[in-house]
Amino acid sequence: METKLRPVNTSVMRKKPLSAYAADAQKSELKRVLTRWGLTSLGIGAVIGGGIFVLTGIAAREWAGPALALAFIIAGVACTFAALCYAEFASILPVEGSAYAYSYGTVGELFAWLIGWNLILEYMMGATTVAVSWSGYFEKFLHLFHIEPPIWLMNDPVTAHEKADALRAAGTAVPDFTFAMNLPAFLIVIVVTYILVKGIKEAASTNNLIVIVKVATVIFVIIAGYFFVDTANWTPFIPPAVVDETGQTHYGWPGIVTAAGIVFFAYIGFDAVSTQAGEAINPKKDVPFAIIASLLICTALYILVSLVLTGMVKYDTLDLKAPVAQAFADAGLTWAVYLITIAAIAGLTSVMLVMMLGQTRVFLGMAKDGLLPKNLFASIHPTFKTPWKSTIFVGTIVSIVAALTPIDKVSQLTSSGTLFAFAMICGAVWLLRVREPNLERPYRTPALPVIATLGILANLYLMWNLRTDTKITFVVWGILGLIVYFAYSRHHSNLNKPQE
Ligand code: ALA
Repeated sequence: METKLRPVNTSVMRKKPLSAYAADAQKSELKRVLTRWGLTSLGIGAVIGGGIFVLTGIAAREWAGPALALAFIIAGVACTFAALCYAEFASILPVEGSAYAYSYGTVGELFAWLIGWNLILEYMMGATTVAVSWSGYFEKFLHLFHIEPPIWLMNDPVTAHEKADALRAAGTAVPDFTFAMNLPAFLIVIVVTYILVKGIKEAASTNNLIVIVKVATVIFVIIAGYFFVDTANWTPFIPPAVVDETGQTHYGWPGIVTAAGIVFFAYIGFDAVSTQAGEAINPKKDVPFAIIASLLICTALYILVSLVLTGMVKYDTLDLKAPVAQAFADAGLTWAVYLITIAAIAGLTSVMLVMMLGQTRVFLGMAKDGLLPKNLFASIHPTFKTPWKSTIFVGTIVSIVAALTPIDKVSQLTSSGTLFAFAMICGAVWLLRVREPNLERPYRTPALPVIATLGILANLYLMWNLRTDTKITFVVWGILGLIVYFAYSRHHSNLNKPQE
């Protein structure tokens, strides 16, 4: 009997049929090994990192003062709206690909493509930023043992020359060099890539171990730090607003909102759980649980760390590079500096692990749909059952960019891509409720119209508060995405073939 084919829908708003998701999940070659707490651990693994160990310094010292905890609450609330929406989506469509996959079935192809394109900013750019922070902490660790590696081996070329010039200007002799690279950042990405190629189980057990170390350290910081809190440091809790020469307001409520935009970076990663649905044993129930649980656990820890930190040290004297470690050094607990430095190094490793893992799973989802080349992004290793070519591709790009680019400012770019994806997810889950009210939803977002509206507004508002150059780069990245879509993806999409 002849099968009737429907004509190709050429609209950029064409949608992947929801029935195709179930078929994809059935066909998945990935190993289903992740439990509910394994997924939660992946979430925490991706979240606790540079944000809490590094950015707290600048956020409190320059913008929020002791009210840093309020900035964490604001950013945490914006993330909670997004997490509640992610959770409903994840319960309906438990497939790898995360926000990209969800919007393909609900809003349409071009929109989904743009979300996927922005997730590259979140995961790949995020992993790159974190690799460079990792190198910074590693250098600090070497300093603890009085090891001083040459500048040209620890920094990208631009930063290396800047540092050498500054040292020379201060009268220190620094030998000339022509070549420079951030070798530790390069090497750690290679190690992470190796673990990811070997398998999700290996990645998950490495991650579990690291998560235990870092959560234990954060709890140590809270409990030990509590004994060094001087409540006088919290007064005034919200320092009066001050306008600088560029017109920006520091402290007061405007300063707290700016700080919320900065510390938003600290929350990025809980959504990475949703990229691992293809490897979850019971994705419909456990992915929503893990998304919300990892976010709530991290929010509680962050608020407590902020209170302790600003109570231990007067906000205007907080260290900008390693505020948490420095607070303990000032308190005379030198040994704690070793512990915190090691935990930060371990913590940043797991952030990279989950971000790169997430990136390959988003690519996998996009390639299966034909929007990216299948032979590179959807090829699964026969033994390891991982998308190995894609993992090596991601590892190569992240390692090279991390080794050679001065990326001290790209954390904001990571945030911009993530905020955009969060806002869109809030809108898309609501749209799906209206269009397909009868779908099976193992998890339903409570008061969805309210949560989704607040989620869209909160995330776009934080995005609006990012630096102008970040917003311009974000737009340029989007235009580049459109070019790739119209030049390649649109024609290779599975939906471009006649459907049965
Ligand atoms: N949330 C991650 C971190 O703070 C990206 O490092």
